[in-house]
Amino acid sequence: MLERIEEIRAEAVAAIDAAGSSAELEGLRVRYLGRKAELTGVLRGIADLPPEERGEVGGVANKARKELEALLERATEAQDAAELDSQLLADRVDVTLPGAPPRPVGHQHLIARTTRQIEDIMIGLGYHVAEGPEVEHDYYNFTALNHPEGHPARMLQDTFYVQSHPDVLLRTHTSPMQIRAMETQPPPIFIVVPGKVYRRDSDATHSPMFHQMEGLAIAEGLTLADLKGTLLAMCQGIFGGERELRLRPHFFPFTEPSIEVDVSCFQCGGSGTLAGGERCNLCKGQGWIEILGAGMVDPNVLGFVEDYGYDAERVQGFAFGLGIERVAMLRHGVPDLRRFFDNDVRMLEQFS
Ligand code: DAH
Repeated sequence: MLERIEEIRAEAVAAIDAAGSSAELEGLRVRYLGRKAELTGVLRGIADLPPEERGEVGGVANKARKELEALLERATEAQDAAELDSQLLADRVDVTLPGAPPRPVGHQHLIARTTRQIEDIMIGLGYHVAEGPEVEHDYYNFTALNHPEGHPARMLQDTFYVQSHPDVLLRTHTSPMQIRAMETQPPPIFIVVPGKVYRRDSDATHSPMFHQMEGLAIAEGLTLADLKGTLLAMCQGIFGGERELRLRPHFFPFTEPSIEVDVSCFQCGGSGTLAGGERCNLCKGQGWIEILGAGMVDPNVLGFVEDYGYDAERVQGFAFGLGIERVAMLRHGVPDLRRFFDNDVRMLEQFS
């Protein structure tokens, strides 16, 4: 009898050791410790044994039962933990994955994209991007940019003034950042300034709010040739490597000399005529498209930032300003500037 108990015990221990799942362990529990198990029968039959055997057989059988119970409990716990681990691993969710179906995230507005593209070109030329306030002081928008008292651009039809603050206005151009930037850093300075500007104006090519990109370069020995080379690189980056520039004399209060810059038409290649012989509609047969205003920074402007290290006898430079909407309209054939701001998705989705 004792031998048999030891056999059962050894067999059960080996089976528990080898079990690979909690279901298997449950089967072993029933088989070795269940109501119909052999060991259970032995324990139940102790009373029927001769009295001299009862003590020893009972002790050994009970010990075996306890050992198997403890073993099973430990093995079941370990198995449950392992099964939980592997299930957690299998069910692992990567919360960084997009939902299903992935949500459309949209895209940049054509104005933002055009702005970034020009910024990238200018960063490639060594410029920094600076931004400034849209609510501006008359001093920065006009006075320090060499607008004499009574200049027409100061008059109400062009400028939005902040009520009850005759000196506070919505900037009419990005040029005020020329002064602000020079006040915060000594020369040399090479910056572009993208941003919103405001004018009392509204038709197919004018909006009360629109975007400009200002450029300012001040260093020793800069000339009009540097301005032309810079603008050529910029325009070729925007409109293609074949483009050429034409400079025409013009007037801006803050540059001397001032120029307007035309780029050769990217639709007809500058000939004014399309392949079929008809007149190019983009440049109206001119071969040139007016694209921006520029010039050599007027020494008077530098006079306003003399205290910040800008000595007009030592440094000079150039500035330019271009309209982002105009560039985007030309590049993408948008006929009406107001379409940029209607926020009609059918229009916006075309430029993804
Ligand atoms: N600020 C001018 C405008 O809004 C554009 C401009 C012209 C900017 C010449 C410049 C410049 O920096 O040199 O009409």
